[in-house]
Amino acid sequence: MNAAWWKNRRVLVTGGAGFLGSNLCHALAGLGARVTALDAMFEEGGANPRNLDGAGVMLVRGDLRDTELHSLARGADVLFNLAAQTSHMGGQKDPVADININAVAQVRLVQVMREVAPGARVVHASTRQFYGRPLYLPVNEMHPVNPPDANGVSKWAGEQYWLLESRVLKRPVVSLRLTNCYGPRLRIRDAKQTFLGIWMRRLLENEPFEVWGGEQLRDLAFVDDVTAAFLGAAEHADDARVNGQVFNLGGAPPVSLRDLADLCIAANDGRGSFSTREFPADRAPIDIGSYHADDAAFRAATGWAPQVPLAQGLRRTLDWYRERLEDYL
Ligand SMILES: NC(=O)c1ccc[n+]([C@@H]2O[C@H](COP(=O)([O-])OP(=O)(O)OC[C@H]3O[C@@H](n4cnc5c(N)ncnc54)[C@H](O)[C@@H]3O)[C@@H](O)[C@H]2O)c1
Repeated sequence: MNAAWWKNRRVLVTGGAGFLGSNLCHALAGLGARVTALDAMFEEGGANPRNLDGAGVMLVRGDLRDTELHSLARGADVLFNLAAQTSHMGGQKDPVADININAVAQVRLVQVMREVAPGARVVHASTRQFYGRPLYLPVNEMHPVNPPDANGVSKWAGEQYWLLESRVLKRPVVSLRLTNCYGPRLRIRDAKQTFLGIWMRRLLENEPFEVWGGEQLRDLAFVDDVTAAFLGAAEHADDARVNGQVFNLGGAPPVSLRDLADLCIAANDGRGSFSTREFPADRAPIDIGSYHADDAAFRAATGWAPQVPLAQGLRRTLDWYRERLEDYL
């Protein structure tokens, strides 16, 4: 990371009060950037007003679908575009709202950025979800796109509109297709953001948690490593081998969910227990089974590599919540 590059940069972070966006905002403010966070503060996602405590960024509450965006985006040097409807079940239940946020509102933002921030770099938060059930592992960027649900379709569409800005207008754009991320500021009230959220809550409350399936592999990315990837992507966005590219972003070496459950208990000083059960019938059709990323391309292009081992990241996450559990329940 090039700390000097960020000093006094004007940065807009959509979804800035959510899990990944807020961690990014803290890092950006720490580097001296002038940060505006836009967030609709939706109840169903990862937004939490406490996420930006002490960050020193300006939070604008507004919905990408109808907020006046010109004043927010005007003169921005960098856009980190993280706002999204992220619920897979939510997208299945209300695919119109899902595509309105993840694709139609993206086009709205694309157009505003053309008008008021034509030179800004864009880093778009994309997802591994739309590869669907992997045909091979690890999954590289050449893997076919095969969305398993409406949310996968809308996220893919949104990403493609941003890539057009690079292809057609030569704007520096990078899209990071993220794996499962975890760390401080994750929604842990329930499993709406990720299964790991509810596991963390149960551990912190000394209750047993459930593992659905158990053999599925995941390559979890600790949020500080994800933040570093976003910053690196922006810094390199106008390099020829970065601009206009999609990159998979993985994390720690893959582990099965059952082994991950054991690691969580170890990170909780050996306290906790879990039971395993079959994947619930209503979710099985959109389950993608095992996934881990081949992120060699992003590493080669930017020099990024994850720094936080899984055991350490899990411990840091649990310790972070111990002091502020009430704010996240
Ligand atoms: N966390 C992960 O493991 C993961 C994995 C793959 C991809 N992603 C992507 O990363 C991005 C951030 O994810 P996250 O985990 O931080 O989710 P999150 O729910 O914590 O953050 C998203 C934020 O966007 C806001 N938002 C949603 N719709 C909005 C709208 N119309 N206008 C303004 N704000 C809106 C929400 O209120 C929320 O705070 C998303 O684009 C997501 O698809 C995350």
